[in-house]
This record gives sequence, C-alpha cells and structure tokens, in this order.
Amino acid sequence: MAKFRKIGILTSGGDAPGMNAAIRAVTRKAISEGIEVVGIQEGYNGLITGNLRPLDNRSVSNIITKAGTILYSSRCPEFKTEEGMARAIKTCEENQIDAIVALGGDGTFRGATDLTNHGIPSVGIPCTIDNDITATEYTIGFDTAMNTVIEMVGSLRETCESHSRCNIIEVMGRDCGMIALYAGIASGAVVIAIPEVPFDEDFAVDKFREAREHGKRGMIGVFAEGMSLNLDHTYSEQFVKKLQERTGIETRFARLGHVVRGGAPTLRDRLHATQMGAEAVSYLLEGKSNIVMCVKRGRVTGEDINYALILDRMYKGKLKDGDLDNFGPDAIAEMKSTCAYRQANMERLYHLSFELGK
Ligand code: ADP
Ligand code: F6P
Repeated sequence: MAKFRKIGILTSGGDAPGMNAAIRAVTRKAISEGIEVVGIQEGYNGLITGNLRPLDNRSVSNIITKAGTILYSSRCPEFKTEEGMARAIKTCEENQIDAIVALGGDGTFRGATDLTNHGIPSVGIPCTIDNDITATEYTIGFDTAMNTVIEMVGSLRETCESHSRCNIIEVMGRDCGMIALYAGIASGAVVIAIPEVPFDEDFAVDKFREAREHGKRGMIGVFAEGMSLNLDHTYSEQFVKKLQERTGIETRFARLGHVVRGGAPTLRDRLHATQMGAEAVSYLLEGKSNIVMCVKRGRVTGEDINYALILDRMYKGKLKDGDLDNFGPDAIAEMKSTCAYRQANMERLYHLSFELGK
C-alpha cells in the first residue's frame, strides 16, 4: 500500500453541483487513512501560486448540500506551460503534497496526467454539468443541471400556455447536447436541437406549425448551446426569427446560461460524488494513479486517464495520428463500441422526442 503524507485536492474548469460533496468525501476518507489533506484554491492557479488551505473533518462540514466549490475554480492557461508546471511541482515539494485529486472535466484531466508524469500521482473525478466525458456514463453535476432546467422550463411553459406562445430555450453543455436532450424530453418539448444529430430546420418549423394547428397553445423548444458554438452564439435566436416569420407564432427566447450551474446538488450528484471521492483516495493508496473515476454499467470504477482522453477524441471525431498506437485490436473494438453505443443512445432518444413532442 502506497503511503502518502499529504494529499492535495483542487477543483478546476467550470464548477459543477456536487464538487463540494466530493471534496468532503476525499477529505474524510484520506483523514480516516491517516493522511493529511490540503485544499488547493482556484484550481491549478493555486498550485502555481501556493494558494493552499489545510482541510480537516470540520472544514468540510455542511458543504454536502451546497453547489459551487469551497475551493473556488479557475481556468489557468499558465499551467499548460513548462514554467507553470515547474512552479506547481515546487509548491508540491515545499508543502509535502505527495498526490493530487483533481475535480473537473477533460482539460483538468490533461493537467492531472501532466502532474503524474512529473512525479505527482494524480487521480481525476469527473465534475461537469455537460456529461461529456465519454469514458464515464455519468459526470457529477449533470443531474442537478437537468433538474434546474426542467424547473425553469416548467415556469416558461406556464406563461407560454397563458399567452399561446412558443419559447425557445437555450441550455449549456458546450458541444454536447445531453442536457438539452434529456431535460428537453422531460420538459415535453415539441422540438429539441442538439449537435449530435442533424437538425432539419424545415421539419422543426412544420412541427411547431402542426402542433398549433392541432390546438396546442404553449410550446417549448430546447436548444443545446452546441448548435451555436461556431455561429457566434446566435443559432437559437436566429431560429426564433425564422419560426415567427414562417408561422406567425409569437415566439420568445431565453438563454438559461450559468444559472444551470447552480442549485443544491441532487441526491444522485451527492451520492456519486461521495462514492467517487472515497474511491479516488483508495486508488491512490493502492498505488494507482493517472486514473479518472468513472461510472461503467452503473458501478464506480477507475479508468486510465490517457484511455479516457483518447476515447473522448474518438467519440468527437478528433483522433490524432498515433493516438491508437498503444491499444490492441480488442481495446480499439471496445472503444468503438462504447462510442457507437453513446451515439445510438442519443439518436434513439432524439427520435423518441420527435415522435412524442406534439
Ligand atoms: P474542464 O476541466 O472543465 O474541461 P478546461 O478545459 O478549462 O475545463 O480546463 C481546466 C484547466 O485545466 C485549464 O484552465 C488548465 O489549467 C488545465 N488544462 C487544460 N488543458 C490542459 C493541457 N492540455 N495540459 C495541462 N493542463 C491543462
Ligand atoms: O463545461 C461547463 C460549462 O458550463 C459549459 O456548459 C459551458 O459551455 C461553459 O462551461 C461555460 O464556461 P464559462 O463558465 O467559462 O462561461
């Protein structure tokens, strides 16, 4: 069993409800194993500047219920530079930090793998509302984000019904449409638009028109922000104009934005964060690192970070030359099957939403 004096924990990238529950679990599990814990504030930035605070059982009391992150977050380009990494390693050496648990998304895991390669064993915990890490069925924050969306869309539905209006609602997710798809279905949207499935604009306009002709007053469209990322964030608003022009249906637009990143974490997020946090410490103690915690077939397990990052690139069609060189035919077949399953699931749900949203 590996012996550590002190584990550092940091939260990086976009915050996600449930990060605090994971901080609590890592802290208490490590302390129960006789290891000290230090919180690194503002993500990798805090590692570079030495912005640290010791954590004990009491400092993580009453945080399991709270969104955001008590350790604060940041995006830190300097960490990608050699100089930034050298300063980060120096901070670890000067403060006896022997290992790090990094909470965040794929960018954060790239940082964690760099740390491991520089001699600081690191484990990642997937925390992002987007649920866009292909190696795991679930990322912490996704459930809370979806619940926030359905609550807000529910409010908009009520006023749409009163005024016989349509409302197009854009939700976050970066280039992943999962929040829009799942929350759109659960909100009874007439139309959902996500980047993973080709969007037939004429068909969508006809759908709203037909629904109105069949007596539907309030109507909702849920659009992923990923529809807009290459279009200066204007796609959803442009669609609103087209819909009004072509059908005469009075239509309003709402971008939910960062509000979806707040809200008290749901049971699912607290539970996954707790399990993943404790397991991350166990992996480190077993001498394993460069691992990202994942949910696979419903169970929490660890996957190699490089595998997770390359699987992600495969799913997003962004593989680089040589990416698959270290994988055998069986592993590559398994990766392809994971990607195909994920895509098929999106398509199946998308078509279901079109069939039932009337
Ligand atoms: P997320 O973790 O949510 O994907 P980002 O992509 O912004 O968010 O990444 C968070 C942070 O992780 C970055 O600000 C940077 O400090 C670090 N990071 C991102 N990419 C790399 C990389 N290629 N190498 C090292 N560190 C990285
Ligand atoms: O990755 C989480 C996320 O909230 C995405 O859904 C969104 O595109 C992005 O972060 C927003 O980033 P920022 O907080 O830097 O505006």
